Amino acid sequence: MDSFLIRGGSRLKGKIEISGSKNSALPILAACLMGEGKTTLHSVPRLSDIDSMIKLIGELGCHVYRHDAPSAVSGDAPALNGPLDIEVTDKKQCEARYDIVKTMRASICVLGPLLAARGKAIVSIPGGCAIGDRPVDLHVRGLQKLGAEFRTENGNIVGEVKGRLKGCRMYLGGAQGPTVLGTINVMCAAALAEGETVLVGAACEPEVVDCAELLIKMGAKIKGHGTPEIRIEGVEKLSGTQHRIIPDRIECGTFMIAAAITNGELELKQCNADHLIAVSDRLDEVGVKMERENGTMYTSSVRRLNTVEMTTQPYPGFPTDLQAQLMALLCLGDGISVITERIFPDRFLHVGELNRMGARIRKEGPTAIIQGVKELHGAPVMASDLRASAALVLAALVAKGTTRIDRVYHIDRGYEKIEQKLRAVGADIERVKEK
Ligand code: EPZ
Repeated sequence: MDSFLIRGGSRLKGKIEISGSKNSALPILAACLMGEGKTTLHSVPRLSDIDSMIKLIGELGCHVYRHDAPSAVSGDAPALNGPLDIEVTDKKQCEARYDIVKTMRASICVLGPLLAARGKAIVSIPGGCAIGDRPVDLHVRGLQKLGAEFRTENGNIVGEVKGRLKGCRMYLGGAQGPTVLGTINVMCAAALAEGETVLVGAACEPEVVDCAELLIKMGAKIKGHGTPEIRIEGVEKLSGTQHRIIPDRIECGTFMIAAAITNGELELKQCNADHLIAVSDRLDEVGVKMERENGTMYTSSVRRLNTVEMTTQPYPGFPTDLQAQLMALLCLGDGISVITERIFPDRFLHVGELNRMGARIRKEGPTAIIQGVKELHGAPVMASDLRASAALVLAALVAKGTTRIDRVYHIDRGYEKIEQKLRAVGADIERVKEK
């Protein structure tokens, strides 16, 4: 397993190109299972989770081809990826195998498309993960309301449809609010169902909107995506199309915090600042300077960081996927900050590792109290989940001395070429390959 060696102290300065969104590309790749003919996707990031989803839809009868990358946008930044062609060539397969699902919970995204397009789906029940339980009861309940029948068999969810799914009006929310992938799963299935489906309590995340836009280009009839009420008029078939994945708002937010924590100045290109309003609101309160111009976000900060309170919420609130990264920044705040995690209450594995670097964070249930310190110190730390690992990278960039972060495969799941992107703006970071 690879590690990162990071020597803290460099102020980051320069340009970073934001990659396409992992959390949009994953469900969109699954939705391509419903298309007749070829779909070409642009701005699909090259990540291990994307490779897993490509392998999964490959086993489900899709031919996937990645074109060569175009030249890099600017300077010595790494070249990002070429377009991805997906074509369904065999509709007999309906099983998402455990050894793929266990590595990537987003495999659950194939459930709705398979039921709608093939009438059957066998998906291993996704286990828990480092950020807590990951139930799929809302996915199943929504698909049941469209007429699918489910049973569990040897750790698998087995879903079947007699005839065609039928649209209806349903409530899709859960105890912790809307479900992003659950909304997308049911929206995909409803696109090929008979009649109208109304999803009340739908998730409003940009990734839901992006998948709806893809489905509409394929011939689906969808309105209200991006609001808590989505209306879908079922159609007979969906055709291949071309689509560009939206920028990764979580990667962008992570690099905005990298500029702030290193007292640097970053020009983040190909980003969508509208997707980061709540994040900009909190960073503004911290004292981070941000300017947006078309698709670029200029972010810088002066050393003094104010304290803030933040509670994670469904979109457009502050995203849970940037909670750990904001916590890393607030470790150097000028006083006491408070973070409350409402989406995944156990999502605090980064607290122990940040404290090993000299932070002073105390957990009280779903809340973390962060007492700002003058400086962090390099230390050997362990990555535990994707976003906690990003928080450790941010802390290491500003810590005195050297930090070794083990198990960086967690980072490779969601941050494309992160060490190249950071090195190109002055970070002292290297990947140490496992012997
Ligand atoms: C998506 O996961 C993202 N993953 C997560 O990002 C993100 O943290 C999450 O949305 C919330 O924004 C992808 O898009 C691949 P949810 P998802 O269903 O859809 C509960 C990352 O780091 N719930 O919106 O699986 C659930 O336990 C990842 O990139 C149920 O109770 O999350 C949670 O408390 C981590 N029953 C809340 O809803 C269900 O059937 C929101 O989860 C489904 C969810």
